[in-house]
Amino acid sequence: MAMGSLKYVAFLLMVVSTSHIADAQLSRLLNLINISGLVSCSLNGNIIANPTTPIPPFPNALVEVSCGGNVISSAITNGSGMFNIILNPLQFLLSNLLSSNCNVHVVTPLSNCNATLPSTGILQSPLQFIGTTARGLFNVFNLAPETFQLIGI
Ligand SMILES: *[C@@H]1O[C@H](CO)[C@@H](O)[C@H](O)[C@H]1NC(C)=O
Ligand SMILES: *[C@@H]1O[C@H](CO)[C@@H](O)[C@H](O)[C@H]1NC(C)=O
Ligand SMILES: *[C@@H]1O[C@H](CO)[C@@H](O)[C@H](O)[C@H]1NC(C)=O
Repeated sequence: MAMGSLKYVAFLLMVVSTSHIADAQLSRLLNLINISGLVSCSLNGNIIANPTTPIPPFPNALVEVSCGGNVISSAITNGSGMFNIILNPLQFLLSNLLSSNCNVHVVTPLSNCNATLPSTGILQSPLQFIGTTARGLFNVFNLAPETFQLIGI
């Protein structure tokens, strides 16, 4: 490790172990943005309340978070259709992520989870703020897709 980064780690450790440090300063250093959500294998990728037949999840789908047309992060949904992306708020502004500049896209075609669903178009949703959770020294800002919509068919 380079001397510079060693010094930085030492500085961080010092900050963390100094209990009388201003809360604001501590939380600025130790915030996380946690984007998570469920993608369903339905025409609009959304969960439907009390469906007559249960909607299966969409596993192995590539989910991308884009801002201003640039992909800033991505993840693959797991077997339950869940995805999770952690971002550093020092790198990505929460207010920007929640603005219309940023969106969640499901890039994998819906036909991958159900052959009768469209093989073109992608699901898109804006992000919404769910709440803040404290996790050890971290303040986690939880974000999730609002409502998916099939675009570009
Ligand atoms: C992010 O959110 C998901 C869903 O609520 C949760 O399972 C996961 O533990 C969270 N991760 C962190 C680092 O808080
Ligand atoms: C998918 O991820 C969620 C949230 O982390 C977890 O609760 C669930 O058990 C996972 N499902 C599978 C099949 O791994
Ligand atoms: C596949 O999609 C069609 C059309 O939405 C639906 O009627 C059918 O139940 C779906 N199949 C499964 C296994 O989810």
